[in-house]
Amino acid sequence: MTQINQLTIQHFRNCQQIQCELSCGLNLIIGDNAAGKTSVIEAIWVLATGRSFRTAKSQHLIQHQQTALTVFTQVASSHSANHQYRLGIQKSPQHTQLRINGENTSSQSTIAQHLPVQLLTPESHKLLEDGPKARRQFMDWGCFHQSPEFMPLWRSYQRALKQRNQAFKKRLPKAQVQLWDQTLVENALKIDQIRQRYLEDLTPYLVTFCQALMPELSDQVICQYRAGWPKNTEDLMALYSLNFDKERALGHTQYGAHRADIRFKFSGIEAINTLSRGQQKLFVCALLLAQASLHEKTLQEPVIMLIDDLPAELDETHRLKLLELLQLLKIQHIITSTSQSLIPILNPKSTHIWQIHAGVLTRKT
Ligand SMILES: Nc1ncnc2c1ncn2[C@@H]1O[C@H](COP(=O)(O)OP(=O)(O)OP(=O)(O)O)[C@@H](O)[C@H]1O
Ligand SMILES: [Mg+2]
Repeated sequence: MTQINQLTIQHFRNCQQIQCELSCGLNLIIGDNAAGKTSVIEAIWVLATGRSFRTAKSQHLIQHQQTALTVFTQVASSHSANHQYRLGIQKSPQHTQLRINGENTSSQSTIAQHLPVQLLTPESHKLLEDGPKARRQFMDWGCFHQSPEFMPLWRSYQRALKQRNQAFKKRLPKAQVQLWDQTLVENALKIDQIRQRYLEDLTPYLVTFCQALMPELSDQVICQYRAGWPKNTEDLMALYSLNFDKERALGHTQYGAHRADIRFKFSGIEAINTLSRGQQKLFVCALLLAQASLHEKTLQEPVIMLIDDLPAELDETHRLKLLELLQLLKIQHIITSTSQSLIPILNPKSTHIWQIHAGVLTRKT
């Protein structure tokens, strides 16, 4: 199973040095405001994805007066020969060094593969509220883990898109813009297929978890996938030709896999316009649980769930439901809260509780 056994965090925000052994079940981190709770969650996320969910600048993550941060984990996996990966990241303002089993590597995607983490924060409902980028990232997280061919396709697509957009910006002749069309179209169509298949596989799980978390909803959720180009398009290449002048005037590529989106609807109305705020948060929980279940089914490896400030997310009844589901799915979860009394302990044997104060983590039980 995938789980973080050991975690070391050094010079990360207000955390000078944290070293702890995690439980395979619930890991509860209790602390007052500004104690460092989000920083611990953020540190794991930075290792798993290479970036923070709070800032784009490494400088902000490195503890003041220090030159570099380090996050290191030992991850148990059923797929590794020795059942263990040692994964690390060191970040200075100018440089990032990744390590797998003691060797330097430049592959963030290999680390992401070994450390499949999902994140729920008080900002997570923005997945529904904000533009399509967050929903594309959600969908592509699944595509990346489910289909090994997804990442190379996506990289190749991004390269071609960048070149094509640069050609527009430099006002190069038509032929030099169109040079990229074939690569763009070929990759876009393959990416499109992987995304469609992923959403088809995901939807039954999503329906199940929506029912489990929001039994009051009478209607099933419908996921509407949008490819990034008009629905009735039969020939993407022809669409680019047809829209050349329009795209040149805009100065960028208007249609393509980089514009894909998903719409979630209940009774024909978008989730954002029909669900209450709490239900929107529960819907995001259902999305993550659906992804986690599909991941487990396809790869026989559970994910790790990071939940920052759970009480801010859900009421008592729904906190309990979510914790029950996480336990049922055997997902290692790391949860922060300002108060221990707000988090029910379902299984003391597989629970570790810590107190964090001024970036110092101490085990309570
Ligand atoms: N680069 C840094 N170096 C040192 N301290 C920092 C750095 N960046 C942020 N901090 C401080 O780290 C502390 C912990 O922040 P964090 O957001 O992790 O707290 P928290 O426990 O999640 O609080 P809350 O309950 O308010 O969400 C804050 O006091 C913050 O000012
Ligand atoms: Mg916080």
